[in-house]
Amino acid sequence: MAKFLVQHSSPLSGEVTISGAKNAVLPLMAATLLSKDECKIFDVPELADVAVMRKILESIGSEIEEPVRSVLNIQTKDIKTIEPDNELVGMMRASFVVMGPLLGRAGKAKLYRPGGCSIGARPIDLHLKGFKALGARITITDDYIEAEAPEGGLNGSTIYLDFPSVGATENIMMAAALANGTTYIENAAEEPEITDLANLINKMGGRIKGAGTDNIKIEGVASLHGAEHTVIPDRIEAGTFMLAAAITRGQLLIRNVTPDHLKPVTAKLRECGVTVEMGDEGMYVLADDRELTSTNIKTMPYPGFPTDIQSPFMAFLTTVYGHSTVIETVFENRFMHVAELNRMGANIEIQGNKAIVKGGRKLRGSHVIATDLRAGAAMVLAGLAAEGTTQVSEIYHIERGYEDFIEKFRSIGADISRVD
Ligand code: EPZ
Repeated sequence: MAKFLVQHSSPLSGEVTISGAKNAVLPLMAATLLSKDECKIFDVPELADVAVMRKILESIGSEIEEPVRSVLNIQTKDIKTIEPDNELVGMMRASFVVMGPLLGRAGKAKLYRPGGCSIGARPIDLHLKGFKALGARITITDDYIEAEAPEGGLNGSTIYLDFPSVGATENIMMAAALANGTTYIENAAEEPEITDLANLINKMGGRIKGAGTDNIKIEGVASLHGAEHTVIPDRIEAGTFMLAAAITRGQLLIRNVTPDHLKPVTAKLRECGVTVEMGDEGMYVLADDRELTSTNIKTMPYPGFPTDIQSPFMAFLTTVYGHSTVIETVFENRFMHVAELNRMGANIEIQGNKAIVKGGRKLRGSHVIATDLRAGAAMVLAGLAAEGTTQVSEIYHIERGYEDFIEKFRSIGADISRVD
């Protein structure tokens, strides 16, 4: 199994360019199923998850050219099967997002049932509630979930989400794009990835209004055509590099960021004493020669503090003086990194969904596990601050979601190597 060896780092400095967003590109790729025409997506990051989504689409019948310079051409003239390859679907929870477009275009979908994962049970009841409201008949067996539209296709409806689920909002939006009549999603997720998806569907001829707010209106159309679209910058990757500057007391210029998408992370870093400024070339994060202090964070759906930055931020909080509290409200089991950080000498106590970080401890290099994608990034950040060498295992989690992870860190002065 491959591992990262992370050495203690002097302050990181230089510049880094952020890739297209993993969590935007996966639903964008799925949305191309809604049309028989070719769609061209720019700024597609080279990630294991993107490769899995490509294979899933190919198993459905999409023709996809080998990407050249981050450009992906996808065309699905015919849906050859409404049951994408089970093994591939089982490899990635995010694959469930092909259900909505399959149901919308082919009137049917059969997917291998997604399991829970290390950060929580992650049910799909809200996705199914949405499909049902559009008139689909849902059949659930031990292994599969099937959805079938009524004769004449899905019908627009009003759907209230009990929680603003990102995946459910995306799936319902895609299914409703080709439904008869108008659909309203109330208490919809407002994440930038939702707006990005709506922008692509609208370029394809869709009629979606209100994406980015909690009330989305989707007027169904008879068909969608091809379009070109550039993926938004990855706000979580950007946040990870902001924290890399902070934890090493360095200074970085981060290019290709949308500062509005990073407001909560920026606000919290500023509270800790880090300078974050926008310039013509990008975002400057300056943590050198500064007295840094603790803060409290609470994860929330967008525009609140992102759950995906909770673990990298916690790694940073272990290095500043004072007590910080970190409350996780989005996923029920997203503190797996706490034991790993404590193994490195941190002092973090968990009380339910609250972690109390007693900061200012010297971290020491240890053998730690990347328990999920973002927790893995947190371990690497902690390793940069720790004395000696930190060995991070199960790095396939990290490589699923960060493009050129090691290369980018090395380019700003980090000493990280990958060993098999
Ligand atoms: C997306 O997951 C992201 N993944 C996650 O990124 C991110 O952490 C999450 O949104 C929250 O921002 C992708 O976009 C591919 P949700 P998603 O549905 O859509 C509950 C990363 O590290 N829920 O908004 O699966 C659910 O259990 C990751 O990049 C239901 O109860 O998230 C969770 O507690 C991991 N019923 C909460 O809602 C449902 O039907 C939020 O989940 C759906 C969700």
